Amino acid sequence: MSAPALHSSETKAFDIAWVREQFPSLKLQVNGRAAAFLDGPAGTQVPQQVMNAVQNYFLRSNANTYGAFLTSRRTDEMILSARAAMADFLNCDRDEIVFGQNMTTITFALARAIGRELKSGDEVVVTTLDHDANVAPWRALEEQGVVIRQVDVRESDCTLDMEDLKRKISAKTKLVAVGYASNMVGTINPVAEITKLAHAAGALMFVDAVHYAPHGLIDVKALDCDFLACSPYKFFGPHMGTLYGKREHLQRFKPHKVRPATNVSPECWETGTQVQELIAGIAAAVDYIAELGGHCHSTVKSRREALQAAYRATHHYETALLTRLIEGLQTIPGMRIFGITDAKRFEERCSTLSFRMGHHHPTTIATFLGDRGIFTWDGNFYALNLSERLGLERHGGVLRVGLVHYNTMEEVARLLTALGEFAA
Ligand SMILES: Cc1ncc(COP(=O)(O)O)c(C=O)c1O
Repeated sequence: MSAPALHSSETKAFDIAWVREQFPSLKLQVNGRAAAFLDGPAGTQVPQQVMNAVQNYFLRSNANTYGAFLTSRRTDEMILSARAAMADFLNCDRDEIVFGQNMTTITFALARAIGRELKSGDEVVVTTLDHDANVAPWRALEEQGVVIRQVDVRESDCTLDMEDLKRKISAKTKLVAVGYASNMVGTINPVAEITKLAHAAGALMFVDAVHYAPHGLIDVKALDCDFLACSPYKFFGPHMGTLYGKREHLQRFKPHKVRPATNVSPECWETGTQVQELIAGIAAAVDYIAELGGHCHSTVKSRREALQAAYRATHHYETALLTRLIEGLQTIPGMRIFGITDAKRFEERCSTLSFRMGHHHPTTIATFLGDRGIFTWDGNFYALNLSERLGLERHGGVLRVGLVHYNTMEEVARLLTALGEFAA
């Protein structure tokens, strides 16, 4: 995962106690035991400063935008600073940031706008590894004659079949839609390489970075993608979505909008009144990650550098948790882990892991764990293509464990003990 090297002499050990202090909800008890939040891929917990930012917005700035009075002006300033925070987060300019309800809604709107310029016979490439939010919005264009090509996965390690991808991209391809990381099996896709292939064919590149964002630093300039969507509620912020678009594309494509609303980008993409209090929370989420970076690496000079330091530290920490988890799972009878398990290839995956145990239904296991205060998810998590491709859809999908930087080795050990008990 990408994060430039920092001088190790200035890097402190990962301070998990400090991290957990920032997240008050981690203190929750279930049946007298501490809750273990291994459910991050469906939404992470939020630090106190995100809650404070939402509350402060209501206290000091609550108004609609572009009014000639104090609270409205404060709202305008807050939105600009939230765009600046997201621009640092993704390494772009702030007028290339669009806020929206969630990634799914944003992607449907974008697909509709791009679709206005497509004609019958044009092609869009999607993948079997992706969440349906990066498939269905593009499939909706089939109604106007656009042809969808779907890239297969290699069943053995749940990575994209790159040869199939190369075959499916052609002169007819207008857009390639690929996820940065799989929300089911954790595979990280070679997005920069795929972007080059898309651009060589004259196609646009759309990246769904929803699952990658809590695990790795995103650099849209280095990727050179045309669009990239992610959802702050997966990286310690509130329930919203964001879109990066290259300025030229955000200005060129025309979203559906109400007539009195501005035609100026990026605001023209933000239909209706935004959830302003949560936009305030997004900026605070980015600042939390930057603060973590400063805490891990005392000499950071900018927010972007602090974000780099944070991801460098969390990547190292999460990899240690993942290694322990996989080693432990492999000792449990009937265990079948999906995706990459070879530690030498951990740079190709993040710390989200799915498995099945014998013939046990994933819901039965999730309920057993949930009763013991261990929160995991069961099912397909909307990665429908993958669940079908692996033959899991008719059998309840998989059990998913998501490890983020606020999880601990003790929680991994508790999970493994509980699974051992279940298996017995
Ligand atoms: C990889 C991935 N893409 C897209 C989505 C959809 O995001 P949202 O809930 O913001 O619409 C999710 C949600 O789980 C996801 O994991």
